[in-house]
Amino acid sequence: MSNGKSFKGRTLAATADLSVDEHRYLYRKTRELKAAWTSGGDLTPFRIDDPELSVYLMFLEDSTRTKESFRNAAKFHNVKLNVFDVSSSSFKKSESLVDTIKMLFGYGRRSIFVMRTRMEGVCLALEEQIGEYADRIGRERPVFINAGDGRHEHPTQEFLDEFTFLEQLDWDDSHIHVALIGDLHHGRTVHSKADGLRAFRSVTVDLVAPKELTLPPSYRSRMEDNGFEIREWGSIEEYLGSEEISRCWYFTRLQLERMGDEIRERESELREAVTFRQRWLDKLPENTRFFHPLPRHREKPVIPSFLDGTSLNGWDAQSINGYFTRVIELAMVAGQLGNDFDGVAPIPENKKKSFITEVPIKRKSRVEDRFKVGIKPVDDGTVIDHVAKGFTPEEIWDRIYKIRRILKLNVRGSHGVFHSVDPKDYKGIMSLPDILEIDPTELKKLAAVSPGCTVNLIKDRSVKAKYRLAMPPKIYNFAEISCKNPECVTWPGAYQNVPPHFYQTVGETFTCRYCGRRHKYGDIWDL
Ligand code: NCD
Repeated sequence: MSNGKSFKGRTLAATADLSVDEHRYLYRKTRELKAAWTSGGDLTPFRIDDPELSVYLMFLEDSTRTKESFRNAAKFHNVKLNVFDVSSSSFKKSESLVDTIKMLFGYGRRSIFVMRTRMEGVCLALEEQIGEYADRIGRERPVFINAGDGRHEHPTQEFLDEFTFLEQLDWDDSHIHVALIGDLHHGRTVHSKADGLRAFRSVTVDLVAPKELTLPPSYRSRMEDNGFEIREWGSIEEYLGSEEISRCWYFTRLQLERMGDEIRERESELREAVTFRQRWLDKLPENTRFFHPLPRHREKPVIPSFLDGTSLNGWDAQSINGYFTRVIELAMVAGQLGNDFDGVAPIPENKKKSFITEVPIKRKSRVEDRFKVGIKPVDDGTVIDHVAKGFTPEEIWDRIYKIRRILKLNVRGSHGVFHSVDPKDYKGIMSLPDILEIDPTELKKLAAVSPGCTVNLIKDRSVKAKYRLAMPPKIYNFAEISCKNPECVTWPGAYQNVPPHFYQTVGETFTCRYCGRRHKYGDIWDL
């Protein structure tokens, strides 16, 4: 069970920054607020009422609803509201975000920054960078709320969407069957659904998008990991031919500003595949509702305007809910709400997961027996064995050179590619007479560069210690790694000085902790 005050000071960079219980708490409080507001009841319990708290709206990309609902929510709270004017700021003089925010942070006793930028993962990076600065100067750490970062996530839109779905389903959270339609590739509100839909105990997701606009693999895998049932169609027309059609349709617009030229050229054809037509009205199941984070294209909307006055219109109510959910989000992170929370908080990352195992030495193993095949045996030194076992000889050579380069093993020794015990498999062996011991940091580094290898420390021609190195749960602190998403805040061209950092996800994939992109292990390395 979590401590009820635990929302105070929390950054909301991604939907999963709140546990599912915490999502539900947010929805419960929003429901209470909305009921009190509608009936003219007492709203003071929800109000922060602290003129010393600064809320900064920093929208480096355009916004209407998100910005205006946050502006109104901040006004509800009687706090110091600041709307940062990007067009006349030092961004124009190429100032970094950290420098700008450091300055703004200095002006308030407590600060909440609501951020919309193109840079993916920016809120987490700022929380770390400005958080360290705050600690250094003895000030309360600021909160960052992600109001949409590139194609990555839009957690506060997600909370209002889920709240609206629950409201629509009369608060029954046992199951949702939702169709996600439109630009699933670039649309961050859809990406946030991979974690947000967990508010429901069982989830079926129908993905409806032409192949150019399909959901990126990172989010699809996340949905699979979360146990969602996923089905897929290329257009609304195809979807309407299927047997079980959802009653909850979530549309997104074509995100032209994020598309490459080739896709943009095919705009009208792609738009056609995800635009609803009048002739399909009688194919919809009873009580179907359409939702949309908005804005809609005024000339070519995917939900045509003739539907505005019909019972299909769920998007207007959805948009209004943005105000209520954001009032609650501000109240939570400011510490105004949370004392009555008694659910489970997010599970902290397991920092202790061991990936270096010392293997007992079974017998007095003589070096000549163990490493005789083509390698010069060492009397004293280190032998790294099983390097890239099972890979092709070419890949193993690459790995050997990578180990030498990254661990700076520019020392005497021999190495080579050999048959493993199983003659179908190859492995690399490196014999290093100059290395008499390896400190734990270097062992961790070696595990990251070459998981699966073993390290034998040899003294007087016998193995004194042996370690088996598995894949580490996190990989960071290497000059040779980078996230391969050019929109990520860690991308060198963004000049935000955020070092790359990956954590292991299922199937030996590594996820960037900032922008959430999943990589195959080999793809995180630049060499
Ligand atoms: C969305 C956004 O900005 O991601 N809009 C919003 O916040 N209401 C969706 C969009 O721009 O299509």
